[in-house]
Amino acid sequence: VELQMSDQHGRAITPAHVGILGGTGKLGRGLARRWRRAGVSVTLGSRDGDRAARTAADLVAEFPTSGATLTGASNAVAAAAPLVVAAIPFAHARDTVADVAEPLAGRVLLSAVSPLAFDDAGPHPTAVEGASSAAALLAGAAPDARVVAGLHTVSSASLSATDRELDDHVLMCGDDDDALAEAAAAVAALGVRPVVAGPLRLAATLEAMTAVLIGVNQRHRVHAGIRLTGLAD
Ligand SMILES: NC(=O)c1ccc[n+]([C@@H]2O[C@H](COP(=O)([O-])OP(=O)(O)OC[C@H]3O[C@@H](n4cnc5c(N)ncnc54)[C@H](OP(=O)(O)O)[C@@H]3O)[C@@H](O)[C@H]2O)c1
Repeated sequence: VELQMSDQHGRAITPAHVGILGGTGKLGRGLARRWRRAGVSVTLGSRDGDRAARTAADLVAEFPTSGATLTGASNAVAAAAPLVVAAIPFAHARDTVADVAEPLAGRVLLSAVSPLAFDDAGPHPTAVEGASSAAALLAGAAPDARVVAGLHTVSSASLSATDRELDDHVLMCGDDDDALAEAAAAVAALGVRPVVAGPLRLAATLEAMTAVLIGVNQRHRVHAGIRLTGLAD
């Protein structure tokens, strides 16, 4: 994928190291599996560093041969990686990010968080109090982080099925072009195609798509992703 792999100064930006807040969860483990196989080192963050270390050891045992490291630690340690993914349920995402706002300063924070509620009819997007989206809420909680929204439509099951190639497109948005380029390079390393959609004000629409995908998955008993038509190769 030839989306920008260098910043405006021509420096390569494929990340050597990613931290994942809530990295012990379903999405975090799926991302860690793919990134480590691609040679990207990962720090799984958790409220409980010991739990994260155990999760990391289990994932390493699945695929011992990568040259990249995979470790578990506190969310604060994971937040000091150059690029950090927020992979926490919406209800707890703001407080978790606020707690690590200091190490997140200057970092790219890629929010996969979708504000969802579930009832008898299935999942639906919920309004975010005090912000236009979950990503905007996190930007307020960590004002010096460079927030990008993305990964909302990639299922953890597909990420974790590492014997299969991914053909997803991953829509992303943000207000900082360098941060978007760094996040896109990290997303490309997962084996999916990043597609930048525009500014962070579009994040609520991307976040709502998680509910649409879960609806599709429940009805059709699949792990669907999305692909756009009409893009140049
Ligand atoms: N799963 C998917 O396929 C998928 C796809 C796209 C987007 N997303 C979004 O990604 C986010 C994570 O989804 P997930 O399915 O990975 O969630 P999950 O497995 O339910 O939880 C992820 C992690 O969040 C942490 N966590 C749970 N409760 C917490 C609390 N009270 N305070 C702080 N941390 C807490 C836990 O880590 P510790 O207990 O180790 O701290 C947990 O392992 C969600 O916002 C979801 O909408 C998920």
